[in-house]
Amino acid sequence: MTKGTRSLLKALRYDPKGLCRYIQHQTLPPTDPIKIAIGVNLEGDLIEADLSDPNTCHFLVGGTTGSGKSEFLRSLLLSLLKRHSPEHLQIALVDPKRVTFPEFEDIPWLLQPIVKDTEGAIALMNSLMDEMDQRYRRFEKTRCADLTRYNQQASSPLSRIVCIFDEYADFMAEKESRSAIEQSIKRLGAMARAAGIHLIIATQRPDAQVVTPLIRSNLPGRVALKTASEADSSIVLGGKQGDAVNLLGKGDLLYLGGGQLLRLQSLFAPEITL
Ligand SMILES: Nc1ncnc2c1ncn2[C@@H]1O[C@H](COP(=O)(O)OP(=O)(O)OP(=O)(O)O)[C@@H](O)[C@H]1O
Ligand SMILES: [Mg+2]
Repeated sequence: MTKGTRSLLKALRYDPKGLCRYIQHQTLPPTDPIKIAIGVNLEGDLIEADLSDPNTCHFLVGGTTGSGKSEFLRSLLLSLLKRHSPEHLQIALVDPKRVTFPEFEDIPWLLQPIVKDTEGAIALMNSLMDEMDQRYRRFEKTRCADLTRYNQQASSPLSRIVCIFDEYADFMAEKESRSAIEQSIKRLGAMARAAGIHLIIATQRPDAQVVTPLIRSNLPGRVALKTASEADSSIVLGGKQGDAVNLLGKGDLLYLGGGQLLRLQSLFAPEITL
């Protein structure tokens, strides 16, 4: 990395207005694609991911402690809230550590109160699966293939639902809850995109016991912040991609979406303004 690159990364990282500079407050029409902010590249451009794209419809986010996962999730969430109204977008938050989303407790976008324990997480996943099944039945009746088509012709459009989990490994400790969570991630990961339901799942422990092949194969979008080992990096990014171990931490990340690996700096929003 050159000196110039390093100072750009540093400037972005310590600019508290980082997020506001890239994402303006606006209300997009419901037919616009729902995009999430991933980070800024070395040219200073914001890179986003479209949730309706099969390569970036659900995400696995991994990185060691202090690497910037929670900040990444917060800025990703803000990038959604700043551009989509609560009528067209609903958010479900899971926060076992209770420190990631405190400012978001009462926002009108929330599908239900923030989930903080295992039973709550399992109940949430079950309700998302029920919602998905209901939506598929409606699509079938109206002969629509997916949410976008359905909303183009429906008098009352359905909102997209984005479910953001910080530290899902906390729910993988016990055998029973582990299998319930794993099965629901598998089912939603495989089927929920067309129904407009999206999962973004982060973990500090991207090892093979937590990020099982079942989970990996159903979460196509990947973001690796600095990992503790090359092995953890390759679990998040797939194949032999061990490079996340060399990242700088604090929001320095590798993003894999649609087969391309990009080095980005996550946006930073320590003070939340909605
Ligand atoms: N994009 C960023 N720009 C600048 N600083 C950042 C950025 N992301 C994270 N940081 C800094 O790194 C610290 C740790 O980030 P964060 O809490 O998101 O880590 P984490 O990966 O969630 O850690 P843990 O696994 O322990 O919860 C933050 O308090 C902040 O100071
Ligand atoms: Mg965290």
